[in-house]
Amino acid sequence: MRMGPGGMMNCSMARHYQAMRIGIPAPYAGMRNPLAPTQETLEAGKKHFLSHCASCHGEQGYGDGPAALALNPPPPNLHGVLRRGTARDDYLMWTISEGGKAFGSAMPAYKETLSEEARWQIIHFLRNL
Ligand code: HEC
Repeated sequence: MRMGPGGMMNCSMARHYQAMRIGIPAPYAGMRNPLAPTQETLEAGKKHFLSHCASCHGEQGYGDGPAALALNPPPPNLHGVLRRGTARDDYLMWTISEGGKAFGSAMPAYKETLSEEARWQIIHFLRNL
């Protein structure tokens, strides 16, 4: 838990708050997914999600992966995250690329580990969870 201007808030809320009040940082601000959500793209996204994200977020994205119990803050239910108005392409790309270091969370940064294309494939997969 970290204290934010609104009192106690978890790290996901801190991220949400930054996006609303301060904006998405460069170079992510304004980015749009350049890939079409083809079957091939969705399958590639699923493959990356299962190998890189499911250990914490769960195979279906409910935040119930085997590593989740040990984490504070816990990984959120991605279905809820995706329903927020803030969950635009640039917000998701920023989150996945930079991880949770700035917010004191265990969410890893993937900008060195996954190609930009792989990150966009995952974002399409998330929107179709
Ligand atoms: C080591 C565990 C772990 C792994 C692996 C992981 N995450 Fe996370 N993730 C977290 C935690 C903890 C949070 C909540 C704190 C935060 O937002 O930084 C989070 C938050 C998020 C959020 C939500 C931010 C918000 O708006 O609330 C998204 C989207 C996300 N992760 C996507 C992914 C994707 C995609 C992958 C794989 C490429 C992934 N995560 C891998 C732990 C993990």
